[in-house]
Amino acid sequence: MAIPSFQTRQDERVIRSGPVQSRLEPTPPATPTPVVEMCGLTMQWGSKPVLDNVSLSMQPGERIAVVGPSGAGKSTVLRLLAGLQLPTAGELRLFGETQEYLRLDQRRPPDVRLVFQNPALLASLTVEENVGFLLMRLGRMNPLQIRERVQQCLEAVGLNDVADKYPGQLSGGMQKRVSFARALIDDPDRDEGSMPLLLYDEPTAGLDPVASTRIEDLIVKTTTVARGCSVVVSHVHSTIERSAERIVMLYGGRFQWDGTVEEYRVTDNPYVVQFRTGNLRGPMQPSDH
Ligand SMILES: Nc1ncnc2c1ncn2[C@@H]1O[C@H](COP(=O)(O)OP(=O)(O)OP(=O)(O)O)[C@@H](O)[C@H]1O
Ligand SMILES: [Mg+2]
Repeated sequence: MAIPSFQTRQDERVIRSGPVQSRLEPTPPATPTPVVEMCGLTMQWGSKPVLDNVSLSMQPGERIAVVGPSGAGKSTVLRLLAGLQLPTAGELRLFGETQEYLRLDQRRPPDVRLVFQNPALLASLTVEENVGFLLMRLGRMNPLQIRERVQQCLEAVGLNDVADKYPGQLSGGMQKRVSFARALIDDPDRDEGSMPLLLYDEPTAGLDPVASTRIEDLIVKTTTVARGCSVVVSHVHSTIERSAERIVMLYGGRFQWDGTVEEYRVTDNPYVVQFRTGNLRGPMQPSDH
C-alpha cells in the first residue's frame, strides 16, 4: 500500500529529531540484491550492434518475457545471461557478481538454467540419466537418492513411467517436459534461500494450443517450485501473457518498452501495438536489420 508522502516526511522528522526518537526508527527492509543487472551492455558482431548500450534489472521472483521480431537479439540476451557469450562492452551482474568469464570457465558459476527451444536431450541416455545428469556428475548423492529426486521432478512436470525410456521414444511435447524436469533438478548443496535464474527460449514454438497451455503453466510452476526468477523469449501471445508478469520489447538494439502484462495489453506504444496486432505498418520494418 502506498504511504502518503506527507506521512513519510513526518516520520523522517521524528527520526531525525533526536536520539530518543531514533529508537522508533523502523528497521529498513533489506534491499534484495537484483538477480540480473545489465548495465550499458553492448553486443556487436558486425557493423551494427545487436544490443546497443542496454540496461535492465530483474528482482528476485520476477517473471519476464522478452519479445521482439525475429533477429532483434532475444536469444542473444539469453546467451549472455547463460554465460555462453560475453558482451562486447558494458557490465553484467548476476546475483550481485560481475560476470567476466564464460560460464564454463567460472569456478563458482551462478545458478542459471537454460531451457533451449530444442529440448537438447542426449539421445543415448535414458530420461532418468538426462534429468539426473548434473547430480550424477557432482557425485554427492548415491544412485538411489538421485533416482528419487529425478522421479519427483518428472512428477512435477506431469510425466510418469518414462524414467527408463529414451528421448526418441517420447513425443516432442513430452521431450520438452523432460527438459523442464532437467531445469528443475536441484543441487542438494544449494544454499538455503538461493534462487536460480531460469531461461526459456521459445518454449512453446510448434506446440498445439493445449500443450502450450501446459508448458506455460509449467513455466510458472517451475519458477515457483525452484523458487526462482525466469526470462521467457517467445512470439506466442498466450505464452507471453500467461508465463510472465513483466514484458520488455526489444528492437533496434534497445529495450523500447518495459511494463506489466496489464500495461502491455493497453499501451499505445507503437512498437508494442505493432507486435500485438501483427500489423505490417509500424516502426518495425525488416529493412531496418
Ligand atoms: N554468433 C554470432 N555471430 C554473428 N552474428 C550473430 C551471432 N549470434 C547472433 N548473431 C546475429 O545477432 C542478431 C540477433 O540474433 P538472435 O538470435 O539474438 O535473434 P532473435 O531475436 O533471437 O531472433 P529469432 O526470433 O529469429 O530467434 C542476428 O542478426 C544474428 O544474425
Ligand atoms: Mg532466437
